[in-house]
Amino acid sequence: MSKILIINGPNLDLLGRRENDIYGEETIDMINSEIKKIAGDEGVECEFFQSNHEGDIVDRIRDADASGIMINPAAYTHTSVAIRDALSAKAIPVVEVHISNIYAREEFRHKSLIAPVVTGQISGFGKDSYFLGIRAIIAAVKGDRR
Ligand code: DQA
Repeated sequence: MSKILIINGPNLDLLGRRENDIYGEETIDMINSEIKKIAGDEGVECEFFQSNHEGDIVDRIRDADASGIMINPAAYTHTSVAIRDALSAKAIPVVEVHISNIYAREEFRHKSLIAPVVTGQISGFGKDSYFLGIRAIIAAVKGDRR
């Protein structure tokens, strides 16, 4: 059975209690259980990881025993060469997701250091970004697209 690692970066543990006008009402647990359901229907297993610490995210990527990764790097999207390099070194399909449309927000959010090393990016569909993202990463893994 294929396994997908789902990584959420800093402050995404606050979903549902954080700037609800931007990030919505759903908690991370609600989103994760829907992701699990979608993946389960496709015969794919999920593993979930959330951290507020850059090095812990790097370690989790390096240690991943998964066929693909879906990641919302949150604020580290715009700053982390270390997470980018870890994903790049991993050489498995990766889908980057964002709840908000990062290109329609403050200028410092317009640049993703992660985007150039991933299979694709989904941004701006609210919680649906995750549900589109899990379908995209499963398709990429099944098609072995990188
Ligand atoms: C985010 C966008 C980032 O700019 C921000 O720092 C986040 C969440 C999103 O999902 O829209 O924490 O990744």
